[in-house]
Amino acid sequence: MTFKDAALKFRLQILQRRFPGSAEFWTSVYRDGGNSGEGSYGQLAMFKAEIINGFMEENAAQSVIEFGCGDGNQLSLMAYPRYLGLDVAPGAIELCSHRFRDDFTKSFILLDPKHFKPGLGLSADLTLSLDVIFHLVELETYETHLRQLFATSNKWVIIYGYDSDVFFPEPYSYPRRFTKWIDINIPNWKLLKVIKNKFPLGSSGESSWSDFYVYEKM
Ligand SMILES: C[S@@+](CC[C@H](N)C(=O)[O-])C[C@H]1O[C@@H](n2cnc3c(N)ncnc32)[C@H](O)[C@@H]1O
Repeated sequence: MTFKDAALKFRLQILQRRFPGSAEFWTSVYRDGGNSGEGSYGQLAMFKAEIINGFMEENAAQSVIEFGCGDGNQLSLMAYPRYLGLDVAPGAIELCSHRFRDDFTKSFILLDPKHFKPGLGLSADLTLSLDVIFHLVELETYETHLRQLFATSNKWVIIYGYDSDVFFPEPYSYPRRFTKWIDINIPNWKLLKVIKNKFPLGSSGESSWSDFYVYEKM
């Protein structure tokens, strides 16, 4: 190992030791005045809205539950008849509750994934996980998120994420091959289609490694 590699490894170890965990990380992002990130703004947000609004209309979907609703900027572009936004960060729920205070088609709840047990009472036509999965660093958090996402949907699940297990140096990102995990662990669902990003990494302006994965209950 070269000196440069050793220095990088050491820096990463320090960063990882300082990483408080995914929920705590996002709680501090909003507490410090941050937002949901560039994937929730500009051309990427427009692209996400175009795909999901098109899906809603095409399939006459009526209700949506989103796991990881964020600061509400992405939501402001969406046309959902009925919407419930869940997030682990109190700041995200506060921002959304305030922004949409006069919109009675939308509601928000602070999510405690460890103690949330999906049941018959809480479900929607479509559940969403948009730019959340690669932030779920802890394996248990990641698996819980996927199980809850599918367990609360009656018909469709849409994931916008990076389906890869390449190593990322930042401690707050941990991409995983979620399509493989879903194939093995979530029976009775099929991957209907994959929609590639209009702005993949390397394109001009904001770009993203996320693509759309649309699942349907069999
Ligand atoms: C990059 S933002 C994306 C926000 C929104 N989905 C969008 O596309 O604009 C990721 C969000 O996921 C939330 N989050 C992190 N871990 C979560 C978990 N285990 N369950 C639900 N939400 C989570 C964060 O608090 C943050 O608001």
